[in-house]
Amino acid sequence: MKNIFFLISALSIFISSCKKDPIINDKFKTTPYIIEVPKYFPIMNTNPLNPMTVEGFELGRKLYYDPILSNDGRSCASCHDQKYNFTTYASNALVHVNLAWNTNFLWNGHVTGTLEDIMMFEVGDFFNTDINKLNNSNDYKNLFKKAYNIDKITKTDVAYALAQFFRARVSYNSKFDKFIRGETDLSPSELNGYILFTTEKGDCFHCHTLPLTSDNQFRNIGLDSVFEAHNLGRYEVTHNPLDKGKFKVPTLRNIEVSAPYMHDGRFKTLAEVVEFYNSGVKVSSTIDPIMTKPGKEYGLKLTTKEKSDLISFLKTFTDTSFLNNKAFSKP
Ligand code: HEC
Ligand code: HEC
Repeated sequence: MKNIFFLISALSIFISSCKKDPIINDKFKTTPYIIEVPKYFPIMNTNPLNPMTVEGFELGRKLYYDPILSNDGRSCASCHDQKYNFTTYASNALVHVNLAWNTNFLWNGHVTGTLEDIMMFEVGDFFNTDINKLNNSNDYKNLFKKAYNIDKITKTDVAYALAQFFRARVSYNSKFDKFIRGETDLSPSELNGYILFTTEKGDCFHCHTLPLTSDNQFRNIGLDSVFEAHNLGRYEVTHNPLDKGKFKVPTLRNIEVSAPYMHDGRFKTLAEVVEFYNSGVKVSSTIDPIMTKPGKEYGLKLTTKEKSDLISFLKTFTDTSFLNNKAFSKP
């Protein structure tokens, strides 16, 4: 299965690298959009049915900021604000960064597949977009014609355009990235935090796998020991009792600006999060074995300095060039 996936991505990269020139088909002509991805990132999931184009990306961006998609005046950006890593301070909304590598979406993984699949859910189930509004707009009819060469817009087309805007939002210029690329040093405190993060002592790296900072799995980290409607997590999708309390491992990229934390936003600061890992883990039958490894029975036992070093390191994931990138802001 994995091999097939690699073959498909290799193939699509091959195809896109052949398309140096604009795709010309009588009147239909699009401009390829190149997504920059550093060499130390895994291969990005692409969709051969939805190749990146400047027209598709710009259309997806416009849709993201336009309340036309909803029936109550909200746009995607109402809850997903760029300066907070595309989330909002007052909610547990998930961030929109490096999502091209994800195959599990939403805290409980209710949607799996490609970005096109999760966008179908957002446009269909969540927003219940009234497609007539788009078809009645000459502006959108024109833009969809240019991006996808279609005369009648469907929800699938909207999902495809949005997916392009999501695929392009890659964050790779944080201090952490510059450190990995040998372009900068970490401060002694950040470096110590990095060591804590990536060794058994702090033990964050098994789940927040570098460089993307998520292993794309579901895990119970021991926030609670009793599971009721609000915290069943993955169980809501699978109905497997072994999945109670498991949630998607979230990315830590730009974590400094994505408060509040956890699926229910229960922690307001990174200090609270680190203190939870240090001394607040609650044992239950579905807790991840990593959380209760020998030596961790009484928590991580970090000193005050180690805790602040860990936080310093977490802040190296802040990528201001991503958070301020005008190409991703309201058009
Ligand atoms: C009312 C606030 C709100 C609006 C508006 C909103 N979202 Fe969200 N979004 C959320 C919340 C909350 C979550 C987490 C929900 C969960 O996992 O149960 C989320 C999760 C997501 C995720 C999953 C990310 C991941 O890591 O799995 C995607 C993708 C997403 N939203 C895209 C969109 C798009 C596209 C739109 C517009 C069509 C949109 N959202 C509009 C609040 C919102
Ligand atoms: C066993 C896997 C695992 C380990 C080990 C782990 N995490 Fe997590 N982390 C998760 C999961 C899963 C969540 C989301 C939990 C939830 O909301 O129920 C999470 C959430 C977080 C969040 C909040 C993210 C957000 O967007 O809300 C931060 C910050 C964080 N972890 C940092 C760390 C640090 C620092 C360490 C090491 C001390 C660590 N994690 C160790 C799996 C893990």
